[in-house]
Amino acid sequence: MADTPAFPPDLLDALRRARHVAVLTGAGGSAESGIPTFREAQTGLWARFSPEELATPAAFARDPRLVWEWYAWRRGLVRAAEPNPAHRALAALEGLVPRLTLITQNVDGLHARAGSADPIELHGSLARARCRSCHAVYAEWEEAGEPPPRCSRCGDLLRPDVVWFGETLPRDLLGRAVEAALGCDVFLSVGTSGLVEPAASLPRLALERGAPVAVVNPEVPGRPAPPLYALRGRAGEVLPALLRAAWGEAPGRGPGPPMRGQ
Ligand code: OAD
Repeated sequence: MADTPAFPPDLLDALRRARHVAVLTGAGGSAESGIPTFREAQTGLWARFSPEELATPAAFARDPRLVWEWYAWRRGLVRAAEPNPAHRALAALEGLVPRLTLITQNVDGLHARAGSADPIELHGSLARARCRSCHAVYAEWEEAGEPPPRCSRCGDLLRPDVVWFGETLPRDLLGRAVEAALGCDVFLSVGTSGLVEPAASLPRLALERGAPVAVVNPEVPGRPAPPLYALRGRAGEVLPALLRAAWGEAPGRGPGPPMRGQ
């Protein structure tokens, strides 16, 4: 995207006037950090598995080691990754609007590492494991021995503390996300295919309440009309440019020191 792309003036006005902005991010928001999205080809060892085959309770019951190792591979990718300009722009947006609710389907923790204060991690976090029986949650665990590791309280297997297909989302987190979608003045949908419910319904709720919704994605089907806007392009380029267009500033550009991931 060009350095000063032409964003719709009414969207820029709505952003500048907004008291509450809600943002939903998906895997495309972390793509420029080198984390593969879900519906693009997986690499190497994992190319023959689809996430739908691995991210289910049935898969874990059938082959816990396979599922644990897939998540361990993803955890390794995330540890080696850095937040990208999209994460940093969303962290900077917190300082530009009176209220920001950042909702993410990503389990990689990159929003927090970029400086976002309180991202709602709807699908959980790779940084945690929990016991499949007693539900004890762990931020650290021993990897010695046959994977997956075991719960130090009850001895059963640990699983990643993420939401799998067929499982329900934590009710409090979903409640906060729905409340933000219903109450926001502008909604940004960033790097998500919008195929997985209930997150996929959040932009629709915002639209139904009359909030402008801007979709940031290289692939936006059709020709959306206001109050739905297509901002076609990579999130790491579009979001900093959007902030620059609306407020004349963007993370890592212009006066002041560049923002860094923590
Ligand atoms: P997907 O893999 O379904 O979609 C990624 C989206 O990002 C696609 O629409 C791409 O066009 C877009 N994209 C790719 N690169 C981009 C970039 N640089 N900037 C902006 N957009 C880009 O990922 P999600 O929509 O996040 O759930 O998938 C939703 C859920 O399905 C995931 O949270 C996960 C998965 O199964 C669970 O594990 C429960």
